[in-house]
Amino acid sequence: MTRRKLVAGNWKMNGSRAALSELSAIADAAAGHAGVDVAVAVPATLIAPAAEAVPALSIGAEDVHAADQGAHTGCVSAAMVKEAGARFSIVGHSERRADQGERDADVKAKAEALHRHGLHAIVCVGETLDEREAGRAEAVVTAQVAGSLPQGASGEWCAIAYEPVWAIGTGRTPTADDVATMHGAIRAKLTAMVGAEAAEIRILYGGSVTPDNARELLHVADVDGALVGGASLTAAKFVPIIAAAD
Ligand code: PGA
Repeated sequence: MTRRKLVAGNWKMNGSRAALSELSAIADAAAGHAGVDVAVAVPATLIAPAAEAVPALSIGAEDVHAADQGAHTGCVSAAMVKEAGARFSIVGHSERRADQGERDADVKAKAEALHRHGLHAIVCVGETLDEREAGRAEAVVTAQVAGSLPQGASGEWCAIAYEPVWAIGTGRTPTADDVATMHGAIRAKLTAMVGAEAAEIRILYGGSVTPDNARELLHVADVDGALVGGASLTAAKFVPIIAAAD
């Protein structure tokens, strides 16, 4: 088993060129934690300036279209974000599943588009509060994994992010036991789908990760890193999370 921890930021629709200094500080700190992979997904407009300003840091997109080009007003393709300097993209974030109606098949196609262009994919899954309260969390999440995992997925280029929708931006997190149970279930589903390669695919936890809870969450069994929203916007909050992964 060769899984290195990955701490990935997700700036969502936040940030501006003025915020690139945060990325520089994050890159400087990351250099001191050589055992951890660090990456930050930024709005499409910031990919090129971020990749140019901070070449040492893995900069990514927050979404891509599944097609390489065409009549899709307002969208960007994997090839486009790659040309801008992205090395990866998040796909299937719950905000896109909710706001843009993305389904598992869309998410899978987007991840496959990334792979066609040599980019890495972070594929997001996670249950809503209603689904958890109905006792369906595991069934929902493993079905999302089954439907969203790209063809030929390997740990080389594909990671899963488990993000309970009710934990995103709320300050609420599942217990360590609940995280362990879900990550174990995801690992089992991956094993059923891709066999031994499942042991190489990183499973990140996301949802209200902070400097205060990162150490506990990042050392739960089968947690191979974190996808961090709000706390990735400043080096002051993101760097302690990177340190906690080391
Ligand atoms: P949060 O967001 O860390 O602000 O809860 C996580 C995410 O949506 O990826």
